[in-house]
Amino acid sequence: MSSNENSEGYEVCMDIVETMARIFNARRLVEVRSVHISGISYQNIGDAGLEWIEELSESVKFRVKATVNPAGMDIERWKEMGITPEFYEKQMRILKALKRMGARLEMSCVPYYFERLKCGDRIAWAESNAVIYANSVIGARTNRESGITAIASAVTGLTPEYGMHLDENRTPDVAVKVELSREGDAALAGCIVGRIECDVPYLIPKVEMKESELKAIGAAMAASGGKAMFHVEGQTPEWDNYEKPEAIEVVSEEDVREMREELSPTETPDLVAIGCPHAYAGEIVRISRFVDKEKFRIPVWVFTCRRLLRNEAIRLAVEKIERAGGKVFCDTCMVVSPATEQFDYVMVDSGKALTYLPKLRGVRVCFGGLEECLRVAVSGL
Ligand code: F3S
Repeated sequence: MSSNENSEGYEVCMDIVETMARIFNARRLVEVRSVHISGISYQNIGDAGLEWIEELSESVKFRVKATVNPAGMDIERWKEMGITPEFYEKQMRILKALKRMGARLEMSCVPYYFERLKCGDRIAWAESNAVIYANSVIGARTNRESGITAIASAVTGLTPEYGMHLDENRTPDVAVKVELSREGDAALAGCIVGRIECDVPYLIPKVEMKESELKAIGAAMAASGGKAMFHVEGQTPEWDNYEKPEAIEVVSEEDVREMREELSPTETPDLVAIGCPHAYAGEIVRISRFVDKEKFRIPVWVFTCRRLLRNEAIRLAVEKIERAGGKVFCDTCMVVSPATEQFDYVMVDSGKALTYLPKLRGVRVCFGGLEECLRVAVSGL
């Protein structure tokens, strides 16, 4: 794939990359091997974003492999979500334009599960949970790109070398002891750690963290405090590469319990929304096992990526969830789709959703771990 370097679109993208380099005093531009583009929901970018992407797609092609974040609807089941034909038509125009440029329409926020990255890879990813996971858990290097700068990198194949591309900005500055004892604690602790004044927290968990906890804690701290990286003692790839911080903070079991109590449901939620970041194979199977003999009494929406449905075992798990009354939507999520606005009080198991749903979708939220959410969904509280 090659971009037309003489086109106006290419010049615009190169100008974006060079301007970012100047603003952040980057030493040079470096090549990236993967791009992830966020901000592709029509809900977020509106007509102005749609027109910009369409115009760009008439003159350029992506130079590097580029995946895209969730859109504003499930592209097959949009009617069931309550999406209007007008929204559908505009969202599809955005997706077609991205495809024309060469994007892979994964429409998922967990590209770290299907992109083969290794420690030290230079990438240009937008989507805060993907950025923090790539930097921290994989050891790849990316700044928190915006949808526009990610597109510019996809077209040029370049990103300015500043911020998280440099060792000095990956050095931890505060150690944080964290105690996680119950399912869901990682998401809540992530909200608290995110608000600690520091750039790169160095987590010292009491017991080894599971992969699902790394995903949840990162997503929450990226949302609540704009973090782009963390280390976990003895676990993440760069934990021992830098000098250890002197400052120590503690997020105790008590802190997390208090937050959980404050966020427990006080009335029956009218939606349980799971999959922020997108639920992956293990979670889908767990939900399906939970509903073996149960029926949901309130709506349950699970968000995941379509590529998972290629797997027979996952398809069967999804069928089971839907037989119990749940809906498993692909290509979209509870935060970037306007569909969530038809509900008033939403129960989530995600620190990121807790942060963004009230602000962006105007709904009230409550929290529980995955199993707690499912219990509420079958009991009706
Ligand atoms: Fe993903 Fe949407 Fe949450 S993009 S991280 S599911 S807000």
